[in-house]
Amino acid sequence: MNDIDDVAKRVAARLADAGRLTVLTGAGVSAESGIPTFRDMGGLWRTFDIMQVATPEAFARDPELVHAFYNERREKLPSVHPNAAHRALAELEVAFGERFTLITQNVDDLHERAGSTRAWHMHGELTKIRCTGCHAVITWRTALAITDTCDRCSRPMRPHIVWFGEVPFFMEDVIAEALACEVFMSIGTSGVVYPAAGFVAAAQARGAFTIEVNLEPTTSTFDAQLVGRAAEIMPVLTKRLLALSQVSR
Ligand code: APR
Repeated sequence: MNDIDDVAKRVAARLADAGRLTVLTGAGVSAESGIPTFRDMGGLWRTFDIMQVATPEAFARDPELVHAFYNERREKLPSVHPNAAHRALAELEVAFGERFTLITQNVDDLHERAGSTRAWHMHGELTKIRCTGCHAVITWRTALAITDTCDRCSRPMRPHIVWFGEVPFFMEDVIAEALACEVFMSIGTSGVVYPAAGFVAAAQARGAFTIEVNLEPTTSTFDAQLVGRAAEIMPVLTKRLLALSQVSR
C-alpha cells in the first residue's frame, strides 16, 4: 500500500506542466452514501439476476420487472447524499478545470449533487429515460411504467441505462482523449467490467501515472494503490494535492 503524501507528491509533479488528470469511478465511491455496490457482500448482483433485470432481452421479456428494479433505485436517490469522496472530486474539477476529466460507471446523481458538472456517465443515468423508438432522452425522477410513452413518437420509454450486451456511452474518441492523461486514478471499482476495466492499461501504455483507491487492491497493474475508504482517502489526497499544486480551490 502506498502513502497518501507520497502519491500526492508524485501526482503534483506529473500535473505540474499543465498535465491532465483523469478519474474513473465505480460503485465504491457511492458505497458510503448508502448505495449498494454490485459485487461486494450485499451487492445488487448478489440479490438480483443480471439476466433478469439488466439486459435488452430481459426488458423485452418482462419490462415491468426491469422497471421495478430501476424504479426502486431511482426513487431511493433523494434519500441518499454525496459523500466526502464526491465532494473531493468536485473540488478537483474546480481546481484543474478542463485538465480534469471524470468518467463514471455509476448511474446515480451523487457526483452532480456534489458539484461535478462534467461527469461522463458511460453506463447511463438513473435520472434519465430514453425512447425505444426515436431515442429521445428526458430527465425522469419517479417510477417509470410500461404505459409511459414518448411525447414525440408514442413508443415506450426505457431506463437510460447501458445494459449488458449494449455499448457504453462516450466510447469514441472522448474516452481515448481522456486516457491521454498524465495521471489516471481509479476509485471504487472492481475492474471486472470492460471497457472501463481496460482504461488503466490504456492510460499506462501512454505513460500515465496510475493510482487505485479501493477498500482492497484489485490488480497489480496500478503504479500506486491507496487502500481504504474513498470518503476517507479522497479528501486527504485532494487537500495535499491542491496544496502542492498551488491551484485555485
Ligand atoms: N471505498 C473504496 N472502494 C470501495 C468502497 C469504499 N467505501 N466500498 C466498496 N469499494 C470497492 C470494492 O472493493 C469493489 O472493488 O468498490 C468496488 C465495487 O465493485 P463493483 O460492485 O463490481 O462495482 P463496479 O466496479 O462499479 O461495477 C462496474 O458493473 O454491473 C456493472 O454497470 C455495473 O457500473 C457497474 C459495473
